[in-house]
Amino acid sequence: MGDRARTPTLTALLCLGLCRGPCDQVQAGAAPKPSIWADPGPMVSRGSPMTIWCQGSLQADVYHLYKDRVSKPLDTEAPQNSSKKAGFSIESMSTHTAGVYQCAYHSRRKGWSERSDPLLLVVTGVYPAPSLSAHPSHVVTSGGNVSLSCSSEVTGDTFYLLKEGGAGPPRQMQSRTFRGRWQAVFSVGPMNASHGGTYRCYYNSSSYPHTWSYPSNPLHLEVTGVYREPSLSAQPGSLVFSGDNLTLQCRSGAGFDRFALTKDEGLTSPQHLHGQHSPYFPLGHVSHTHGGQYRCYSGHNLSHAWSAPSDPLDILIVAPSPQDYTVENLIRMGGAALILVVLGILLFQARDSPGRLEDAARRGYDPTSWRRKYI
Ligand SMILES: *[C@@H]1O[C@H](CO)[C@@H](O)[C@H](O)[C@H]1NC(C)=O
Ligand SMILES: *[C@@H]1O[C@H](CO)[C@@H](O)[C@H](O)[C@H]1NC(C)=O
Ligand SMILES: *[C@@H]1O[C@H](CO)[C@@H](O)[C@H](O)[C@H]1NC(C)=O
Ligand SMILES: *[C@@H]1O[C@H](CO)[C@@H](O)[C@H](O)[C@H]1NC(C)=O
Ligand SMILES: *[C@@H]1O[C@H](CO)[C@@H](O)[C@H](O)[C@H]1NC(C)=O
Ligand SMILES: *[C@@H]1O[C@H](CO)[C@@H](O)[C@H](O)[C@H]1NC(C)=O
Repeated sequence: MGDRARTPTLTALLCLGLCRGPCDQVQAGAAPKPSIWADPGPMVSRGSPMTIWCQGSLQADVYHLYKDRVSKPLDTEAPQNSSKKAGFSIESMSTHTAGVYQCAYHSRRKGWSERSDPLLLVVTGVYPAPSLSAHPSHVVTSGGNVSLSCSSEVTGDTFYLLKEGGAGPPRQMQSRTFRGRWQAVFSVGPMNASHGGTYRCYYNSSSYPHTWSYPSNPLHLEVTGVYREPSLSAQPGSLVFSGDNLTLQCRSGAGFDRFALTKDEGLTSPQHLHGQHSPYFPLGHVSHTHGGQYRCYSGHNLSHAWSAPSDPLDILIVAPSPQDYTVENLIRMGGAALILVVLGILLFQARDSPGRLEDAARRGYDPTSWRRKYI
């Protein structure tokens, strides 16, 4: 028991004595290489804190951090709470802390480990943001293609395209000048549901290595034609009078909880899809500007995949025509004239023979009586 406890200590003492300095070379590979990662991630905005983690073995007694393949360690840390990892924290990310990091650990039994794989730490927010746009539209039919163009007024070296939550390295492309701007055009497609999402682009520059611009505006790529088309209907109907209260409803299978309505977009992909949670689109009291061809799409909450467009629904707004007004007015005027004539006659009769007016009113007016009498 005592012997077993003493042996590693002795080994460690021997090793510590022997391995100072040239240890890396002499004992490389003796212990398995550690893994290295960045928390919250390998891209950090300038001024933000972050931590580089190095995970080796439970036997490790010290961890070293190396930067840019320099042989002298940048930092040294003891394992945290006797766990098998150590954290190197950077309080504020800057152009100087960006770079390629590696780590290694020492254990009493096996000496120095090999160095980890390199971890590239990029600092963002160093140059002005580029702008990202989609051509022909950010709404793309499944199977179609789209070009995402990232451009900047400032000299960019390489442009990067990143998808939010996307796995794998960012796509990158050498910049070109176009109409006085620096730009790169990434083609995406043929599209399927997994291409839908939020994209941003960045560029690096020759000023400092591993320093990137601010992120571009986010671009939401929506993919249509992923699900079966819904159907669109109108209440009270598709032929309504100007001023009527019109509501459109997008009906689809169960499980869909996002709906979008488009107007007069033809069969090409619409320029925009504004999703809402209700399948009802109240248009309120409509006017002639509401007339046109509508289509709707259904999708899922927090997803960028949509159904095919519904069959088109033509909404016709009928204004009460000037002819209708004329006829209506003629009837009204005719009615008014008739009443005047009748009143006039009654008055005339009343003046002729006082007391008969009351009788006539009591009996109700009989049109045949005056005809008999006066014509
Ligand atoms: C390490 O110790 C700190 C407090 O000293 C504690 O908050 C943390 O949870 C511990 N970590 C592990 C992995 O045990
Ligand atoms: C999309 O691009 C691919 C090549 O990248 C091409 O084969 C395909 O025909 C294109 N699809 C459409 C709809 O243009
Ligand atoms: C979408 O297309 C990519 C290739 O562009 C492919 O790797 C992926 O498996 C496809 N996803 C689906 C859901 O079909
Ligand atoms: C920009 O990034 C590309 C690709 O990662 C790299 O080849 C290039 O050297 C970088 N430019 C600078 C100035 O660091
Ligand atoms: C239109 O009708 C809907 C019901 O169909 C009703 O909820 C809404 O309040 C009406 N709007 C107006 C402006 O009358
Ligand atoms: C959509 O998802 C978000 C986040 O998961 C949730 O808060 C929201 O209630 C969802 N909306 C609907 C209508 O399901």
